[in-house]
Amino acid sequence: INRMDIIFLLPTLFSSTFICSFICTARGDLIYTVREEAKRLYVIGNVAKDLGIDAKRLSARKARIDTDDSTKRYCDINLNSGNLVVAETIDREELCGSRMSCILNYELVLENPLEVQRISLQIEDINDNAPRFPNDRITFEIRESAVKGQRFPLDEAHDSDIGQNAVQGYSIERNEHFVLSVHENAEQGKHAELVLEKELDREQQKEINLILTATDGGTPQRSGTVVIHISVLDANDNSPVFSQSVYKASLAENAPLGATVVTVSASDDDVGANGEVSYEFSRISDKATKLFSIDKMTGQIKVIGNIDYEEETYYEMRVQAKDGPGLASTAKIIIDITDLNDNAPRIILKSLNDPIPENAAVGTEVAIINVQDKDSGDNRQIRCSIQQNVPFKLNPSIKNYFSLATTNMLDRETESDYNVTITATDGGSPPLSSSMTIHLSVADVNDNPPVFHQKSYSAYVMENNKPGTSICSIRATDPDWRQNGTVLYSLVSSEVKGVPVSSFISMNSDTGVIHAVRSFDYEQFRKFKVQVVARDNGSPPLSSNVTVSVFITDENDNSPQILYPALEGKSLMTEMVPKAALSGSLVSKVIAVDADSGQNAWLSYQIVTSTDPGLFTIGLHSGEIRALRDITESDSMKQNLIISVKDNGQPPLSATCSVYLLISDNLAEVPELKDMTYEESNSKLTSYLIIALVSVSTFFLTFIILILAVRFCHRRKPRLLFDGAVAIPSMYLPPNYAEVEGAGTLCSSSNYDTYLTTGSHTSDFKFVSSYNENTLPANQTLKFGQNEPFGTSSVNLNRTADADAIILIFHLLSSHFPHPLFPPPFPAPDFTPHIA
Ligand SMILES: *[C@@H]1O[C@H](CO)[C@@H](O)[C@H](O)[C@H]1NC(C)=O
Ligand SMILES: *[C@@H]1O[C@H](CO)[C@@H](O)[C@H](O)[C@H]1NC(C)=O
Ligand SMILES: *[C@@H]1O[C@H](CO)[C@@H](O)[C@H](O)[C@H]1NC(C)=O
Repeated sequence: INRMDIIFLLPTLFSSTFICSFICTARGDLIYTVREEAKRLYVIGNVAKDLGIDAKRLSARKARIDTDDSTKRYCDINLNSGNLVVAETIDREELCGSRMSCILNYELVLENPLEVQRISLQIEDINDNAPRFPNDRITFEIRESAVKGQRFPLDEAHDSDIGQNAVQGYSIERNEHFVLSVHENAEQGKHAELVLEKELDREQQKEINLILTATDGGTPQRSGTVVIHISVLDANDNSPVFSQSVYKASLAENAPLGATVVTVSASDDDVGANGEVSYEFSRISDKATKLFSIDKMTGQIKVIGNIDYEEETYYEMRVQAKDGPGLASTAKIIIDITDLNDNAPRIILKSLNDPIPENAAVGTEVAIINVQDKDSGDNRQIRCSIQQNVPFKLNPSIKNYFSLATTNMLDRETESDYNVTITATDGGSPPLSSSMTIHLSVADVNDNPPVFHQKSYSAYVMENNKPGTSICSIRATDPDWRQNGTVLYSLVSSEVKGVPVSSFISMNSDTGVIHAVRSFDYEQFRKFKVQVVARDNGSPPLSSNVTVSVFITDENDNSPQILYPALEGKSLMTEMVPKAALSGSLVSKVIAVDADSGQNAWLSYQIVTSTDPGLFTIGLHSGEIRALRDITESDSMKQNLIISVKDNGQPPLSATCSVYLLISDNLAEVPELKDMTYEESNSKLTSYLIIALVSVSTFFLTFIILILAVRFCHRRKPRLLFDGAVAIPSMYLPPNYAEVEGAGTLCSSSNYDTYLTTGSHTSDFKFVSSYNENTLPANQTLKFGQNEPFGTSSVNLNRTADADAIILIFHLLSSHFPHPLFPPPFPAPDFTPHIA
């Protein structure tokens, strides 16, 4: 036992880590222990000593180490000292790997004598290797949704050393999510797992780097590290989150299409599809759906419809933000619509009293209107007005009601309808206005009587008119409406000369034309008046009247009537012409009348034939027959004249008569008179009449002479039977010769004289039938008859007695010589003929 044994014995006992050089004393074998990595020439043991051989002899004996095989010789023998030394550094791991025992066997060969000794070299491990991970990085992708406790196996670290020097443990740096769980393998190795102790959140930490350390049990301890890189994969664990829980927006009505109202935005912390947010309305009214749209991607809410404040002032809706897999959240959107003055006021006619009667009292309510404006605030403050020039005004009434009332009396005849324009203006800016025109018509009231176009009417109608001729047209107008203005004409019943006026004229009640009902005779009456009433058809009717004067104008419808001498053929009148009659002396006078008037009664006389044409002449207008020359003895005693009397009418009418003249001074000495005159059966009476006439004439002449004498009148008078003329009072004219109106005033058209015999400058009588000359000196008024209407005559006679005589003569004449146009004398009781 050498010193070396002792040295190596103790460490072997106490620690395996000590390089041990164990000397096995078993017979025959030398066993040494050497630590790996011992340096060259490191003395493992002393073989000489262990074998009990003198070291000096080793060289001699040619001691050498032989290997079994051709493996490397890691040790050698120092022949000088007999030490076994390391020839080459030994790497246990290279030689033996992970085998627990690593023994090299050598033979020590000695010669002389040959001796072979086995040497076993036990190689001890030292901690010369650190644990090593296979990769320099361990990567994991762990979804953030990984649950707690989930395990993730880690790569094992490898340590070439063995035993205690191999990997003994793992550790991980401190972190909040993972812990390390280390297990013992079946093969005595250890492996570690990552255990998720706290859930990951990608949104907090996307990546985690941990350093894993593997340690061995050597002294000094060695370790190896590796980085664990964990990528946290996303899980859709975040819902989108709106930036505001309530979005408020205010939007003016009538906003243009496409205007942005508000933009909502929600964010999602997740990535990819999990973080892709889309927006949509989640709770929205149907109405709002038509007005607003939301952009799916941007969250922009836009106007797509017509926003009307008047329809809705406020919209509320919910919007939802959703990520790809469908996590959603909602927010509220409140859109306040603000009013714009976009509605014109509206005028509503609530009631209308149309038409208005024209007599409606001032202030009568005609219409009720209501004005409305859908806007709000000032935009619905309405002012109402009507135009100026109408007799109406607008009275404000309760709330938005106005009444339209009259301010004046109405008159349909001046203004029959009105267009009242009502204008309503609101208080917006700019203000809006609207207007409405009410057509008002004024209803008629029968307030106007018919009005005649003239103050009075005159109608002229020619006598002998055809019945039914229209003679006059009356017009009256009534400005009222329809039947209130329809004029009907009628005659006021009255009488003309006791005959109802309707038997003379009739009236067309519609046209106002007056017709003659019958033929008029100017000689019967010349004018009359009638009242015409124009009446409207209203209820009650209004009327007015007018006087119509009808004047009948004369026509030449009467031929001259020869009063004296009596008509041809029947006349036996013979004028006595004194033989001594001188030239120019009045012989006789033809008296004729014409029932017509004016020119139609203007008579002219002509001698048509005569026995001795140069002897007598007749005054053209006087009818006086005068001698043209002195009568001589040679002139025939009997002279016949045929005289024509013609009026001045168109065409003229005429009559003829014969005048028999007897040139003699004594009636008795006319023997042929009887022959000449008595021809007919009635000659006897005629002769009586002549006798009477002559005697009366004589008496009359005498009487006149007396009167003239009394009056100291020295006028020479011809000694003729008819001196001058015969006064014929109009009383003796047929009644139809007299003026109808009697002593009334005569219209100018009728104001002319009635000529009987005029134009004789020597005539003492002038028949004047003039209404204007009806006044005579009181004592000279001739009044005949009682109340008979007749024209007055002015006669140059001084005594009524004279007239009486003349009348008597004519009375006799007319009764004896009746004529169809000259009816028998009217009753004249005072002058009844007394001739038997
Ligand atoms: C009222 O209006 C109507 C229709 O526009 C028109 O025919 C009529 O003449 C007008 N009346 C007045 C009085 O202006
Ligand atoms: C005529 O006037 C009366 C009132 O005087 C009225 O009642 C009636 O309606 C009017 N007729 C017409 C057609 O206007
Ligand atoms: C005619 O009119 C006047 C007033 O104009 C009136 O006094 C008279 O009674 C009327 N006559 C008739 C018949 O209507």
